[in-house]
Formats: sequence, C-alpha cells, structure tokens
Amino acid sequence: MICKGTNTSIAEGIIRMGGDDRRSPIFEGEIPIPEGVSYNSYVILDEKTVLLDTCDESVSHGYMSSLEDALSGRDLDYFVISHMEPDHGAAIGDVIRNYPEATVVASGLAFEMLANFLEINPEKRLVVEDGTVLELGKRSLTFISASMVHWPEVMMSYESKDGILFSADAFGTFGALDGAVFADQLDFDGKYMDEARRYYTNIVGKYGAQVRKVLDKSGSVEIKMICPLHGPIWRGGFGEFVGKYVKWSGYEPEEDGVVIGYASMYGNTADAADTLATMLRSKGVKVVVHDLSRRHSSYLVSDAFRFSNIVLAAPTYNNGLHPAMSAAIENMESMTVRARKYSIIGNGSWAPRSHEFMCKRTEALKDMTLVGEPVVFKSSLKDEDREKLAHLADEIAASMGEA
Ligand SMILES: Cc1cc2nc3c(=O)[nH]c(=O)nc-3n(C[C@H](O)[C@H](O)[C@H](O)COP(=O)(O)O)c2cc1C
Ligand SMILES: [Fe+2]
Ligand SMILES: [Fe+2]
Repeated sequence: MICKGTNTSIAEGIIRMGGDDRRSPIFEGEIPIPEGVSYNSYVILDEKTVLLDTCDESVSHGYMSSLEDALSGRDLDYFVISHMEPDHGAAIGDVIRNYPEATVVASGLAFEMLANFLEINPEKRLVVEDGTVLELGKRSLTFISASMVHWPEVMMSYESKDGILFSADAFGTFGALDGAVFADQLDFDGKYMDEARRYYTNIVGKYGAQVRKVLDKSGSVEIKMICPLHGPIWRGGFGEFVGKYVKWSGYEPEEDGVVIGYASMYGNTADAADTLATMLRSKGVKVVVHDLSRRHSSYLVSDAFRFSNIVLAAPTYNNGLHPAMSAAIENMESMTVRARKYSIIGNGSWAPRSHEFMCKRTEALKDMTLVGEPVVFKSSLKDEDREKLAHLADEIAASMGEA
C-alpha cells in the first residue's frame, strides 16, 4: 500500500511515493507475481512542484493523502503523465480534480488516451515532445520519447541537475521491496534479477528495437540515478543491469545454458526432460527445467532470453500438441523469442506427432537453429530412447562449444 509512512526523500526536494502489492496473484491479468510487485510515483519540490505519475488501483488506498504529505502544504504546479497504462493511472482523475490549477504534462497521444480512459480533458495542459524542456527553478526536466517501450505514448524524463532519469517502466522489476527504496539496500542480483528479467522479457521483450533506440538516446546524457515506476531506485551501480538491457534488447543470450520446458500428463515426458537435464549437467552445462503445466510460460520466456539453448518436450494430445506447450510456444512467439538454438522431444502412445507440431510452430520464431534430430519416443523411455537423449545432450553441449 502507498501511505504517508512510505514517502521517502531520494534527493534534495525529490520524494518517492511508493508501495508494495503483495496480494494480487497476477499482473496484466496473465503473469503470476508470487513475490508481489511495487509501484513508484515521484514528487519534485522546486520553485515549481511536480508529480510524476500515480499508481495502480491495488495500492492506491492512501495515495491522495500521501501526495498531500509529499507536497508539504504546497499546491501542485505540474502533473507529468509518462504513459496512460492504468497500473500507474489509478489516481489520475483524483489528482486532476483535487489540483485543478496543476498543468497536466504529457505527449499528445497520452492526452488522447487520457480522454478515452477517463473522459477528462484538463484545461491546463502542456503537450511535450522528445527534447522539450520544462523549467522548474533549480531543476529542469527534459522529455525523452520512448515510444513503444512499451506503449506508443511513453515519455521518460531526465532531470539534469542531479542526472536523474525517470525511466517509466524501463529498469523495473517484479517483487515487493519490503521497505527498501534503493537497489543497494537489496540483494538485487541474488533475489531480484530473475524477476527483473521476467518483467522485462514478458512486458517489453517484444520491443527490443525501441528499447535500443532509447538506450542510445540516453547514452548521450550523464545518468547518476534511475527512477523506474516499478522496483528499486538505482543511485549508481547500474552498469550490469543496463548491460542486461543491452543484451535483452538485442536478443543476445546472457550465457550458455539450457532451458527445458516440458508438458506432461503422466510423467513420461517429464522423465525425458529430467534425463536430458541430468546428462547435460554431467557435462557441466547449466540447466533450468520448467513444467509448463505447472509453471506459467513467462518463466520459459524469461529463461529463453537468458540462455543460449531451448529444449521443448511434449506429448501428443488428441492428434495435436499438449495445450500447456501450445500456450508456451504462443507466448514465446508473442514476446519474440529469437536467435536461439533449440531441440525437440516428442512423445505419444499410438501415433506420436507432437514433435511435428513443435517444429512447425517454432518456425514462427526468427533466426532459430535446430540442434540435433527431434527425439521421438512411444509412451515411456526405453534404452534406445535414452541413447538418443545422450546423443542430443552431446550435440547441445557441442553447440555451445563444450566438449
Ligand atoms: C487426452 C489424451 C489425448 C492423447 N492423444 C494422443 C494422440 O493423439 N496421439 C498419440 O500418439 N498419443 C496420444 N495420447 C497419449 C499420450 O501422448 C502418451 O500417453 C504420452 O506418453 C503421455 O506422456 P506423459 O506421460 O508425459 O503424459 C493422448 C493422451 C491423452 C491423455
Ligand atoms: Fe506500462
Ligand atoms: Fe508499469
């Protein structure tokens, strides 16, 4: 929840208003968030006062009184809306109604969306474009268009006095922050990086080219602090995280390794996945295994961005593909997983065809390289099938330069 007690000063005259949602089981009606998610909104107190974005309905309970507290009795001069996605817009209507003198600042497209979402057309409005500067007194905000990262109207803002990038949804992560505000208060690499990857790959993954554009643009200014709308604030030490964004947006794997995603009804396809995983591990290859009937495909997508190799294993189902595998491939396609080495394991009791469907469906992914022949077995693994899996393990290891 966002309440007065969670308001935190993050630089002179800049307050982060934020809170954790530990209750919602899914994000965007689709992606599981077992570790919760956090929301940030920012207030700048200069000669002019500014509010940057609001929050999601799930944490909006105390938002308006927190805003009043953050403004320390002052009126609001500018209300900047980075984009209109409702997870940052739950209090937009209340802010406009409660601070009628505030000028709403957003891109032209965001104003169109504002009218569509809330049927509000604020009288005091300032349409900003890429490069527009808003003077606040000692500080100023320069707007940076981040179109399609991940909505079309997105504007980031850059504060030049302290080199602060208000990065909208970029550099965010899933996961509640448990009172922390800065990344250096957390074991980010150990505890949050996997969720940051799952957040990026499943929300922004498709828009790699647009992310690259913004990374190039922001490379020309000195950034000392990154303030995203989700997750902790970075006050330095973000080189590695930015490096991950460079890789993810270029669809380059972070490291050699294998993600195995399998669907299985009675455990036989799972046996094949685990047998292959054991064989690969014995060769020193890093492996992550996901049961797609149990684990949402966002985890497979995330590890597909992380690793060099993907293995898909599924039984034949009513002369088609098991639904859990079908949904996973659809999600990989939607998030534009590409340029990976991949291998296929199929299973069936009377007319195995799942391998054919997996091969066909993965054709929709770009620049993929099939490693080894698809391994196809009937019902349960026999010695000859294990031999085929051993051969596949050799080929997968060889594909990443391992002996
Ligand atoms: C609802 C259902 C539909 C199936 N459809 C087919 C099929 O069309 N062709 C086939 O060869 N096997 C079919 N099978 C058999 C499974 O593919 C086979 O038993 C496989 O070994 C199951 O793997 P698992 O132990 O990993 O669940 C079907 C099984 C079920 C339960
Ligand atoms: Fe968003
Ligand atoms: Fe968001």
